[in-house]
Amino acid sequence: NYNYIKIFDSKNPQENYCVLIKNYLNIAKKIKNLKIYKDDVWVISFPKSGTTWTQEMVWLLNNNLDYEQSKKSILFRYLFLELEGTNCASFDTNFDDYVTNAQKPRHFKCHLPVFLLPDEIWTIKPKIIYTARNPKDVIVSFYHHYRHWHGYSGKLNDFINAFINDKLLYSLMNEHVLEYWKLSKKYENILFLFYEDRVRNLEQEVKKVAKFLEKDYSQEKIEDLCKHLTFDSMQKNPSCNNEHMTKMLKENFDFESKHEKFNFIREGKIGSYKKEMDEEEIKKVEKYMDYPDFENYGFEYKF
Ligand code: A3P
Repeated sequence: NYNYIKIFDSKNPQENYCVLIKNYLNIAKKIKNLKIYKDDVWVISFPKSGTTWTQEMVWLLNNNLDYEQSKKSILFRYLFLELEGTNCASFDTNFDDYVTNAQKPRHFKCHLPVFLLPDEIWTIKPKIIYTARNPKDVIVSFYHHYRHWHGYSGKLNDFINAFINDKLLYSLMNEHVLEYWKLSKKYENILFLFYEDRVRNLEQEVKKVAKFLEKDYSQEKIEDLCKHLTFDSMQKNPSCNNEHMTKMLKENFDFESKHEKFNFIREGKIGSYKKEMDEEEIKKVEKYMDYPDFENYGFEYKF
């Protein structure tokens, strides 16, 4: 029932496309032609892979660990072109103002696949931090997101079928991840991270990102940041948990889920899917994840 379109990758139209909301068409050219600066920072992922977690870490590392300023909602500390930019265009406000008035260095959140990124990304080469996560957990997380933020009322099984048939927003997932993986092997300005590594060893991952951003913080400061980035701390942090957004959606839309409690920072576990998917559903998703090209490029999802 959603107003989605498929945008095909002109270099590989048989095999690659991206599902986006129709209004994206209003802004597609502007995104492609966006002026890029070397000190822009791009946090990219397939949705529900830990984007907000990466955003909070990157923003603080890149802003002198300014916890006071980080109280401003993460939605406003980052530019989110394909969504906010699309809203700008649909509400007839000025997209150019939205991108040029942003505080420098600009921080972008983005779920677009490689083929839809601005052209100048490949010549200016700003820093890009990509996060990937096990699709089984992504699906479960996305399902709850769709129920509470998009009013989805189907069962998890229907949602899984839609996912593996590449009908949900930002599909195709395998291609999305693989394209960034390939580029991260080729270009030094792309750092490829796994959600699962961060759950297992937050400090190691924070240090990796600090180094990539060329920031040097004391061990004490890194440990403070790790405390700030724990699941409990981020769930309690209104600027990351997107509470105002959840509240606004519940107040304004008659979603079936509206009386259930929902935290954007929801569960934060490796293997959440085991609680919600049955054996058959797991097998279905694992078949989807068994993507022929992964082996050729040495890519493996982490469990
Ligand atoms: P779950 O729904 O499985 O809990 P995104 O920001 O890309 O939408 O991803 C959201 C997912 O990242 C949610 O997964 C959320 O709980 C998880 N997440 C966010 N911050 C986290 C943290 N500090 N520790 C663990 N998981 C976190």
